[in-house]
Amino acid sequence: MYLGLDLGTSGVKALLIDAGQKIIGSGHASLDVSRPHPGWSEQNPTDWIRACETAIAELKASHPKELAAVKGIGLSGHMHGATLLDAGDQVLRPCILWNDTRSHAEAAALDADPRFRQLTGNIVFPGFTAPKLAWVKNNEPSVFAKVAKVLLPKDFLRLWLTGEHISEMSDSAGTSWLDVVKRRWSPELLAATSLDERQMPSLVEGTEKAGALRAELAASWGIASGTPVAGGAGDNAASACGMGTVGAGHAFVSLGTSGVLFAANASYLPNPASAVHTFCHALPNTWHQMGVILSATDSLNWLSEISGKKAGELTAELGDVLKAPSGVSFLPYLSGERTPHNDSAIRGSFTGLAHESGRAVLTQAVLEGVAFAFRDSLEALKTAGTILTRVTAIGGGSRSRYWLKAIATALQVPVDIPADGDFGAAFGAARLGLIAAIGADPLAVCTAPRTDATIEPDVPLGGAYADAYQRYRALYPAIKGAMA
Ligand code: XUL
Repeated sequence: MYLGLDLGTSGVKALLIDAGQKIIGSGHASLDVSRPHPGWSEQNPTDWIRACETAIAELKASHPKELAAVKGIGLSGHMHGATLLDAGDQVLRPCILWNDTRSHAEAAALDADPRFRQLTGNIVFPGFTAPKLAWVKNNEPSVFAKVAKVLLPKDFLRLWLTGEHISEMSDSAGTSWLDVVKRRWSPELLAATSLDERQMPSLVEGTEKAGALRAELAASWGIASGTPVAGGAGDNAASACGMGTVGAGHAFVSLGTSGVLFAANASYLPNPASAVHTFCHALPNTWHQMGVILSATDSLNWLSEISGKKAGELTAELGDVLKAPSGVSFLPYLSGERTPHNDSAIRGSFTGLAHESGRAVLTQAVLEGVAFAFRDSLEALKTAGTILTRVTAIGGGSRSRYWLKAIATALQVPVDIPADGDFGAAFGAARLGLIAAIGADPLAVCTAPRTDATIEPDVPLGGAYADAYQRYRALYPAIKGAMA
């Protein structure tokens, strides 16, 4: 048995697979995001530990024997978060998350230093880790003075699981401190934020062993003490391992809290000007690109909260048959946007509202707005040299067939739905746990699931969607001007 632990923004998932990669059971615990000021997004790292314990307790209650047979553990987590620890490994402040935009001025200042784009292959986005540390230095100097270690969220879980400070390449590529082609910390970039390598965890590949389960936790879960924990991956690369998105030409669209259009590449293909992210993949010596939108299911959840209807109820109101865009447009920039705008100050909008614009019209506009944001990422990937001809859908939002049809039509590429199962980040993490534990060939393990159905672009509505996309494109500069 192998255990995958995924620390998602909205909850922790613990997933158990057997040696044949069959899913045996899972446990789950929810997490909240705290937003104490506009643009802020934080979580308390001790809540991650509690959620992990709850998820594993659920798994232990349903599958005690199988949990006891775990031979390897893999980790995955939301990327970029700054978990700051003092010399005694105590958490110094709440973790500043990937969709927090408070450090936009610090990000712009670092991004203006050409070494960052040169060595990391990426824009220094406000959501990345380095500008957050620059913000802490500027605004909470007494905290900054005590920072002995900076860990990414899943690596904080590793510290709790194993007692070790270790990270891996795919997540570390999102810090703005990694030399992404050489796969090592850049002392130069660390120095630019008044840090050095001693404050960073050591680095392994996602498929390598990176610590062993502490005796105390092992005893309470009934797992063998010393069970290896794999390097694992940031949640997007972990999902890619789960989906078999490991070779050039393979791509997925992820409808999670964030939205990601992810492409595996044959080599390192940086193109920061396009606002595409170019990161190390979780498999040794491989890289990937992705367009990232900050509010995908988060946009639908926002509408759900203000309308008092569950997200599933909102999408159910639309039925299964794609409708022509109504003339109401939605820009999903609730937390600002990364690809293609790199604009943390922009905010979302509805335009074209009329008396007849009821709840269903707003839901439709939200789903279309997110689909058009993915189209922007598709265009950005094209600029960065990657042309996608089909994508596989994953993430909670992919349960809505309507949304997938809207995405296929906005992207003008078929969207594959994997066979029933759970091929997301927790599954990818479990696969990495398996690879590290037995030294398996990563490519033999990270295969693609069978496709259950393919959603083709809607041909009759293609023209109406193309027009609506042009309207969507024109709105960003107009709204930006109005907000300035
Ligand atoms: C990727 C990103 C998000 C988080 C969400 O760059 O910020 O996809 O990893 O979990």
